[in-house]
Amino acid sequence: MHFKTSFGFIILLLTVLSCQQKNIETQEIAIIPQPNSIEVSKTFFVLNHTTGINYDNIFEISADFLKSYLESGGIEVKSGNNITFIEDKNLQKEAYSLNVIEDSIEIKASTDQGAFYAVQTLRQLLPVEFENASFKGNQVNIPSVVIEDSPQFAYRGMHLDVSRHVFSLEFIKKYIDAIAMLKMNTFHWHLTDDQGWRIEIKKYPKLQEIAAYRDETLVGHYSDQPHQFDGKKYGGFYSQEEIKDIVAYAQEHFVTIIPEIEMPGHSQAAIAAYPELGCTGEKVEVAKKWGVFEDIYCTNDETFDFLEDVLDEVLELFPSKYIHIGGDEAPKTRWKSCANCQTRIKEEGLKDEHELQNYFITRIEKYLNSKGRQIIGWDEILEGGLAPNATVMSWRGTSGAVEAAKSGHNVVMTPTSHCYFDYYQSDNEDEPLAIGGFLHLEKVYGFNPIPEELTSEEAQYVLGAQGNIWTEYMPAEDQVEYMAFPRMLAMSEVLWSDSEQKSYGDFVKRLESFHKRLDALDINYANHLYEIESNIIEEDGEIKLELNSLVKEGKVIRVTLNGDKPNYESRVYTKPIVIDTSRTIKAAVFKFNSNEKLGKTIIQNINYHKGVGGKIIINKQPHKAYSGSGSKGLINGISGSNSRFGDKEWLGFWGEDIMVEIDLGEEKEIKSIETRFYNGNGQWIYAPKEILVAFDNEQYQSFKLDDDGSLISFKSHFLDQSAKKIYIKVQNYGTIPEGKQGAGHKAWTFIDEIIIN
Ligand code: ACM
Ligand code: ZN
Repeated sequence: MHFKTSFGFIILLLTVLSCQQKNIETQEIAIIPQPNSIEVSKTFFVLNHTTGINYDNIFEISADFLKSYLESGGIEVKSGNNITFIEDKNLQKEAYSLNVIEDSIEIKASTDQGAFYAVQTLRQLLPVEFENASFKGNQVNIPSVVIEDSPQFAYRGMHLDVSRHVFSLEFIKKYIDAIAMLKMNTFHWHLTDDQGWRIEIKKYPKLQEIAAYRDETLVGHYSDQPHQFDGKKYGGFYSQEEIKDIVAYAQEHFVTIIPEIEMPGHSQAAIAAYPELGCTGEKVEVAKKWGVFEDIYCTNDETFDFLEDVLDEVLELFPSKYIHIGGDEAPKTRWKSCANCQTRIKEEGLKDEHELQNYFITRIEKYLNSKGRQIIGWDEILEGGLAPNATVMSWRGTSGAVEAAKSGHNVVMTPTSHCYFDYYQSDNEDEPLAIGGFLHLEKVYGFNPIPEELTSEEAQYVLGAQGNIWTEYMPAEDQVEYMAFPRMLAMSEVLWSDSEQKSYGDFVKRLESFHKRLDALDINYANHLYEIESNIIEEDGEIKLELNSLVKEGKVIRVTLNGDKPNYESRVYTKPIVIDTSRTIKAAVFKFNSNEKLGKTIIQNINYHKGVGGKIIINKQPHKAYSGSGSKGLINGISGSNSRFGDKEWLGFWGEDIMVEIDLGEEKEIKSIETRFYNGNGQWIYAPKEILVAFDNEQYQSFKLDDDGSLISFKSHFLDQSAKKIYIKVQNYGTIPEGKQGAGHKAWTFIDEIIIN
């Protein structure tokens, strides 16, 4: 009997036979990324010491991978016809089919890479004990499946910043292993930045002696004032021999490494080693804190000689078609007052420093094109015109991607809103320190790499997407894993699986099962599956708090309201809780019929103020990436997180003045109004300088706001004031000033709950 599932989570019995006893385990088929078509039947292929593999040389890498994988599970494989690799020229490069029946396994592909992906799928049909050589049986029943599979996008990447923190070679290999297991094919290796140069360049020994080390490192978050440092020298670099080893390792896993050598900005470490590369010629230090720095490469010929020499050595090491040349966040301050740079502008007939940036990138592009390579750069390379053959990596939203694709350039999508895995992934306050932001798993899963502004023709230029791991706040390898997993799994599915069939609920079920494989691989993933989502809803004319757990099967939510009995007598949640007073609600997911608590307890403070249940109109839509729970979220009794401006309670507006109108339904006495604005200048977010408040038909009153700290609170008391309607005008900060991240761009406004008492 066959049953077909397009995108299903399947539970089958997998029989594991050991010498003496027979154990029957329940083995879920939980493949990530989900194959495009999978048919499962109730028979099995028996894998044991008699199993033989037959393959041609063109499948050497994938067959070798399979053999050593099986051997690590204690299954010695011989040559024979049980598992066969078959060339099928009709399949596209990365496609495969996998056919498991009772007496054979057939893998079809047109390339070794396609077969490698079939092997990654087959691997996920085997017990997780194969991952860490802890399998004790001598036979495995592999469920019969017919799988036809191919990727949606050609570029499926993960990035890693090794400048802010440097990681061991073993870790880099482990990262590549995971990329390959998830059928991703690109590792973007961010090798140079202000805080450290990490690639050995033989011609320039001071890059190793000086640029690879900083004297000390910022402690805590950048916005904690005053800045404090740890007093410890930090650094290191990868030797060319080590890089060759990593590149060869990646090739055996069909992972292309794109090295990134940043220019013209984020180059302070190189300038620290060779001050003549900067405009002033003065000595600078390898940066000890995070951010954007004004000392960037000068545009004199000596800098280009240096960069060409560096790139020559880079090209020897990395065979990739693309070389990433950075291009982002290059303040033009030094160029404006540099005689060499100003002469360059005149001689080349350039309009300004933005065109000088274009000159810089285009000149490097020409050099790399002459060596048969292509450049890829962050979307700032669009400034002052785009280098003719460049591929754009769009990170500041998607407008760079749209502009590039419309003018016929390839793009890779990495918008901060969906691809920055250095952002917080949970609004639990006890998450490890992160840069800020909020990007939960579901949002990554829901990412569509094709911007909606593109026609289907233009969409062809979108090669794919990538998750970025910037490591300012990740000093340790297990923390990198915590931030990367499971968001990377969601990204793999965004890029590989058919978007028409995607289901977050189904993904989450497979992920819950996949946790065991990640455990076996000793990957320190974040587990937020047992967290509770709470929403304020209106039902039957009442305000209620609705609780939901992501994973429901075999689990219950237990709640305690303040004033109730202690936790152990908490009750099982069955329906939304009526909110008619301020209260604190605690809730957690438990195993069904058990006292075993699975996730963390959430504590929801509900402030039942006079605005709750009112009507609210905002004259502008929040930005679609930061629309929280909509305008209602500003008067739902729940305040936003202190650090995660992307959560459900904050609303983000980009560059716009907004006008909020709250209708309380009837005239009420008003003693105070308060709210908060986020002020994360590193993320281009600025609190307004003033806000205006009016009641009913009265005049607006103006209130000036502080500009100190990452959260700006507003609270004003009123005497003898009553009103039915409240109007609040929030003026956008305006253009981000010179010297700050995002200078020259519009600032964001983020507003929290408006509390009316
Ligand atoms: C970037 O995040 N500066 C590309
Ligand atoms: Zn200069």
